[in-house]
Amino acid sequence: KDQFNNKLFEYLDSNNEIVNSREWVKSVNEQWDHQDAVGILKSWESLGTVVLTFVNATGLLLTEKGKQAVANGSPEALLWAACGVDGGLTPKEASDRFGPTAFGAARSKKWIDTDKVTKKLVQSATSITDATREILSDLTNRLKETKDINDMKKSGFVEEKNLNYCKINKGEKYGNRKKKQADLTLDMLKDDAWAQEEFKFNVNSKGLVPDSGFRHPLSKVKAEFKQIFLDMGFQEMPTMNYVENSFWNFDALFQPQQHPARDSHDTFFLSDPEKSHDFTDDHLEKVKTVHSKGGYGSIGYIYDWKLEEAEKNILRTHTTAVSARMLYKLAQTGFKPQKFFSIDRVFRNESLDATHLAEFHQVEGVIADKEISLSHLIAVISEFFRRLGIDNIRFKPAYNPYTEPSMEIFGYHPQLKRFVELGNSGIFRPEMLRPMGLPEDVRVAAWGLSLERPTMIKYEIDNIRSIFGNNINVNFIQNNPICMFKPLK
Ligand code: PHE
Repeated sequence: KDQFNNKLFEYLDSNNEIVNSREWVKSVNEQWDHQDAVGILKSWESLGTVVLTFVNATGLLLTEKGKQAVANGSPEALLWAACGVDGGLTPKEASDRFGPTAFGAARSKKWIDTDKVTKKLVQSATSITDATREILSDLTNRLKETKDINDMKKSGFVEEKNLNYCKINKGEKYGNRKKKQADLTLDMLKDDAWAQEEFKFNVNSKGLVPDSGFRHPLSKVKAEFKQIFLDMGFQEMPTMNYVENSFWNFDALFQPQQHPARDSHDTFFLSDPEKSHDFTDDHLEKVKTVHSKGGYGSIGYIYDWKLEEAEKNILRTHTTAVSARMLYKLAQTGFKPQKFFSIDRVFRNESLDATHLAEFHQVEGVIADKEISLSHLIAVISEFFRRLGIDNIRFKPAYNPYTEPSMEIFGYHPQLKRFVELGNSGIFRPEMLRPMGLPEDVRVAAWGLSLERPTMIKYEIDNIRSIFGNNINVNFIQNNPICMFKPLK
């Protein structure tokens, strides 16, 4: 097929047209089948590369018997030759070996006769001209008489065959010789080569919309975030507890018990069960000490730390509570460098407005390793946002009870034409890590952001209540396209 195409375009590049496809194919390669060639030509025609004009034609071709006659002589000539050997042939032998028609033909041409004595067939002509063989050898020039044609057909030397052919001209899209692809392969997708290809099917087709099972925009964005974390080698943390005690949510994070965030104006407290105590005595003692007296080079907050306050159940205000549990477990099971992430729901007692809800989703990343510095945190956060398609980011010094240094993350919003706050980050304090039992040289860098803000930006929604809560429109979920972050190259 490739050879055929090469020859075809080589020829058409320097000639105007191919007048007779059948003859052209035969002239290029005797072995090629014209029907196969027409198949390939038709596929080029469907691309507009060539234009085909079909011509009906028939022609006379040698049969097997005809080919034998050309090669060795006609049957009547062979019969005549055989009659000259060993006193001739009996009529039966003649008919058996050369066929009944050969006998009749040799007879009527007076080439043979019957010997009166032996009753065998013998030569009556001393030399003959095998006209049948000559005519057959030069079919195109000799076979003009209809009578001859009919005789040859009747004797089975030639047959009439369909010799349809086509005229080949250059098509409108002659320059465009790309073959339409039958498959969209992984390789084409990887290097964007698919964009240069033509397909037998419509790659731009939107496809059928399923009539159920639509993913919520938040869930679509969540899936994208999750993939970015996984691609960067992060492991997902188990976040399936909305209820947390204050110990893990605040105390273990070196957040003092009188901190305003621990007020019921900011946090939802549970009345039933009001308390829980799933932390170890050892950890509790160390947390209590670091808050009330200090330690690990810190003077602490110097106040009367109370267990009842730490035991109070709340709806977790951030997933950093889960990070704290994971880091404690890491310290207790023997420290190994780790990268964790989570994306799940958190709750804050906010007054509701266009950009605030009492519950939202937090995206959190944590890296624990020895000798981690602020520059690592900046690099990882930059890479994380670059993969979201945001490369213009800035950091601003900030304050968090559990991180030092702390940085707010700002990203340039091309539509708003200004920097908007994307998240918060920092290096966890020794006052948080050392009571857990993590070695002194272990540093843990972390950052957090909301899932709602990037979703609102992506879907161009300005009111958070249209994507979350009891006011959302079901059509909104159904009609929104999938969200894809295009990573910057
Ligand atoms: N927990 C912080 C918040 O609620 C986010 C954060 C996570 C900050 C980790 C620093 C480190 O905003």
